Amino acid sequence: MRRASRASASSASRAAACSGATSVSGQATTTLATRSSLRTARSTRAARLATAPARISMGRSVRRRRARARPATAWARHPGAAAAWAAAAHSAALASSAQMMSARRPTPGPSPGVSGVINAHSSAACSTAGGRTSTTGRPRSSAAFASATVTRSSVVKGRLVWGMVRSGGRKGNGCVARLPVAILSPMSPASGFSPNLQHLETSATIAISQEAKRRKAAGEDVIDLGAGEPDFPTPSIPADAGVRAIRGGKTHYPANEGILELRAAAAKHLSLLSGGRPVNADNIVVSNGSKQSLFNVCFTLFGPGDVVAIPAPAWVSYPQIVHLARARPVLVSGEPEWSLKVSVRDLDRVVPGARGLILCSPCNPTGAVYTHAEIKAIAQWARERKVWVIADEIYRRIHYGTGPAPSFLDLPDDLLERVVVVYGVSKAYAMTGWRIGTALAPGPVARAMAALQSHTTTGANHPAQLAAAAALGDERVEQDVARMVAEFRKRRDLVVARFRQELPGVEFVDPLGAFYFFFRVDSFGGLSGTEFCTRLVTTSGVALVPGAAFGDDRYVRLSYAAATDDLLRALDRIVAFAKKLGD
Ligand SMILES: Cc1ncc(COP(=O)(O)O)c(C=O)c1O
Repeated sequence: MRRASRASASSASRAAACSGATSVSGQATTTLATRSSLRTARSTRAARLATAPARISMGRSVRRRRARARPATAWARHPGAAAAWAAAAHSAALASSAQMMSARRPTPGPSPGVSGVINAHSSAACSTAGGRTSTTGRPRSSAAFASATVTRSSVVKGRLVWGMVRSGGRKGNGCVARLPVAILSPMSPASGFSPNLQHLETSATIAISQEAKRRKAAGEDVIDLGAGEPDFPTPSIPADAGVRAIRGGKTHYPANEGILELRAAAAKHLSLLSGGRPVNADNIVVSNGSKQSLFNVCFTLFGPGDVVAIPAPAWVSYPQIVHLARARPVLVSGEPEWSLKVSVRDLDRVVPGARGLILCSPCNPTGAVYTHAEIKAIAQWARERKVWVIADEIYRRIHYGTGPAPSFLDLPDDLLERVVVVYGVSKAYAMTGWRIGTALAPGPVARAMAALQSHTTTGANHPAQLAAAAALGDERVEQDVARMVAEFRKRRDLVVARFRQELPGVEFVDPLGAFYFFFRVDSFGGLSGTEFCTRLVTTSGVALVPGAAFGDDRYVRLSYAAATDDLLRALDRIVAFAKKLGD
């Protein structure tokens, strides 16, 4: 059974949970699979969500905004955006304060299954009664601390405080375990570090994955569905190319902007994915993973005072990267009705003065995919308002519709004058450890990014570039990609079927791409994502990522980039755990 639900004003504060970014509410529509048999909405807000009429579909609203015909600028072949780029004022107005809410940290309430008080002998990291912690100078997250017994062994790992937690309560099993017990505020000036790092936090997803590994190494039976990393080996053709490169002496400094073999292969590959549109290798900069590509773009385009819009829930690193450029991330909440995507109306209302927008499709953490029409509408919006779009298309090949997911590169040149497309081999080619990503940008931006990395990394690992060139350039590798995507699809179907059949009251975003399943847990008596994950890993040995990491702690992210056997065992545990919660 399906139902439509509606926006809530509180989505702003939910999104603000993500990495210190300012947050504002967006609007959108879609349908989520749900049934209220497990839990019905109890709060006023939840009741409103359940009864509100469905909103106008995004498709209708964007179709009203038609692009004016413009002559093509052959963006992809020539640095057609040069003038636009040079002329771009570096003074985007801040969104009006009425539309922005101050950044807020998530303050999870007492966990039903985690009882106790702060131990008088709690660790130094957690020892202050208020204000800032004594060791880190970070503001104390009091609500979270109040819900757990934290012992001396507590450590700070980025946003999450890992502590010894006594799990008790009515349904707890009374065990003591090392768990995330708090999400910390970022580094403050009191840390003694540069203001450059004032918002810096370790990636929560990486922290969780490391914790799952640590538990496994300690002999615990933990299934890790937290990591966003394919479980497949790197296909043999790129792997062999990497080995050959090392044996063949390609072990010296590479070309700083990326070796020509890789840039040419990437240009051809991106061209083929978009029906043969021209893509110029000279506009591509190769970096150490698409994460560095994203950093390069943000650092090149944004600076103090610039507002960068980020649809939320958002991948953990976007707000952090924007902060490192000393610009200001503004999270724009998507709506459950529309797979948590945002519309141009949301963007206009929320960030009228934005200088940039980071759009991820297929999306981590939701698995949602923007349609061609939606991408086009956003590109038109951005062109009209002179907003730079950073299109993170790293999951483009992992798409469960026909062909690769819709891309900005499917649009005509005149819509791409301020668009940078980020791509990489980590996900679809199972090459996370090779650390190769690319950014395709207007010429001046590409040259500026290359200059930037000439002083930071001197380019990406040389043998890895040759491996990536083989991945993108050798057609035979496409069969490996197709095989892996087919496997991801089977796993996605497994997860969706299990949730539909056995947890029909749980809402989730329809996963159309990437390898994530984003489901809602607040129907379990108002449980937060952090509480859900904490109790799940303690009692059932499954590691998932709380939505707090992405700016919305009503949700939890499950990664099905895991062996099918593990996934099946984990699903048994999750279903049993959730059914118990629903009792
Ligand atoms: C949305 C998104 N973008 C970028 C990256 C970075 O990928 P890499 O640096 O491995 O290319 C990730 C990795 O998890 C991601 O999920």
